[in-house]
Amino acid sequence: MNITTPVKENTMSVSLFLLLLTPLFLFLIIKRFSKSYKNLPPGPRPLPIIGNLHQVGNNPHVSTAILAKKYGPLMSLRLGHKLVIVASSSEAAVEILRTQGRYLSSRHVPDALHVNEQDHTVIWSLECNENWRLLRTICRYDMFSVKALESQSSIREKKLAQLLDFFSSKKGQAVNIPEALFTTAFNTLSSIYFGHDLLDLNDESGTASVLQEKLFIILKNGIKPNLSDFYPILKRFDLQGLRKENLNHLKEVFASWAGIISDRRLAAAAGSQEELCFLDRLIKRGFSNDQINIFAMELFIASTDTTTSTIEWTMAELLRRKEAMIELQQELKQNISTDITKLPYLNACIKEVLRLHPPAPLLLPHRAIQTCEVMNYTIPCGAELLVNAWAIGRDPKLWEDPLSFIPERFLGSDLDFKGEHFEFIPFGAGRRMCPGQPFAIISVQTVVSSLIRQFEWVLPDGQDPLKLDMTAKFGVTLQKEIPLKLILKPSK
Ligand code: HEM
Repeated sequence: MNITTPVKENTMSVSLFLLLLTPLFLFLIIKRFSKSYKNLPPGPRPLPIIGNLHQVGNNPHVSTAILAKKYGPLMSLRLGHKLVIVASSSEAAVEILRTQGRYLSSRHVPDALHVNEQDHTVIWSLECNENWRLLRTICRYDMFSVKALESQSSIREKKLAQLLDFFSSKKGQAVNIPEALFTTAFNTLSSIYFGHDLLDLNDESGTASVLQEKLFIILKNGIKPNLSDFYPILKRFDLQGLRKENLNHLKEVFASWAGIISDRRLAAAAGSQEELCFLDRLIKRGFSNDQINIFAMELFIASTDTTTSTIEWTMAELLRRKEAMIELQQELKQNISTDITKLPYLNACIKEVLRLHPPAPLLLPHRAIQTCEVMNYTIPCGAELLVNAWAIGRDPKLWEDPLSFIPERFLGSDLDFKGEHFEFIPFGAGRRMCPGQPFAIISVQTVVSSLIRQFEWVLPDGQDPLKLDMTAKFGVTLQKEIPLKLILKPSK
């Protein structure tokens, strides 16, 4: 793995950038930029050099949904030199994710996440290659199959009990809900993967949050607007230093679990056949340390913020709609021994939250590996594709009263998370659909049902739930801008 030192000064990057803006450089950019394709989907007129960057802004799911009203459900944008096609209707999503999925399921991996010289990243790999297929198969059978999920149930129970104890110990105090949920989600996965907790719910020394912080920065750098992505000609200079910064953070993240990997390797070398955790299985399959590290990092990044924000939004929406909270409390009270996966109202609430607040509102960027036709327009090879699942979930042609939280709309409906109904695709659909969906749903069901069953929730300082700020922030995931803080009292 190529780990190098961080860039020292931002100013250095800026002066290098200015130096590069020589006439020759401008000529090259404009020449490449003006490369035009016939029959592209319509879109706003791009400005020289920056294209439509100024129209996308900090909330791309919102700005592209607004632009789509004018330019249509399949729209072209130029982000710097990059051609981006945005799908904003369920029909356009079917075409991209299913009909032409064979050509449009490659990935665009942001330069800041190019952390491995050979493989780049593993599951998010550039192509749907053999390596990617093997990892998806491992995920499907060894990590997220019904059998695997059952065998992980004791870990989930244990982590849940720790979370409930933690909340009980904070009775009467305002608790930062997403922070505690994040630690629980992280430790659940780390116990399955490494057989150990990596964070401590009660840690106030700050060491636990260092690891969390580093993972957060790595992802944040991955989604930050980066000159290397908009102008590939600049890639090698890494002008903003994001790739280098990430490589350093990764080095430290990997060091935090290196001892666990070497212990399990020693046990395997001594002839142990015991499988204490997922890591043992990967060692048996001949995975290198680099592969183990990157696979772990990807799963942590993909799973922790997404499940945390889903639970946080669920609690916030339930607090705001009192009748829904009462309905759910009653369902949970009346069905103490029923399997939570079978509780209709609980599941309707989770679906409704994922419709309104999909953690990955634009899914993950796809890339065309072959030129093809979508809705009678040309999608050129190399174009990046975004599917606006957020806009589709709020499309008034598909949903009645789309902005309101109404779990009842899912009762008796056959809409599920499996990527077969394109009006509801919080986990994507087709080849690149989220492999962690079964794991995510069982985690959310387990935590939400227990938090509602065990506690009564109140906002601090007698705040009116109807006035709860529900502003979302596009970042690592679509999170609540102001983290939910609640005071818990035990249920009567
Ligand atoms: C509520 C929780 C979650 C949501 C809403 C979610 C959503 C998504 C979405 C939209 C994608 C991209 C689909 C596409 O590009 O077409 C994705 C990819 C992925 N997710 Fe999830 N996810 C969640 C939880 C998880 C969990 C718990 C894991 C693993 C433990 C996971 C692992 C992955 C991986 C590895 C990919 C990349 C798949 C590939 O590129 O082939 N996700 N997820």
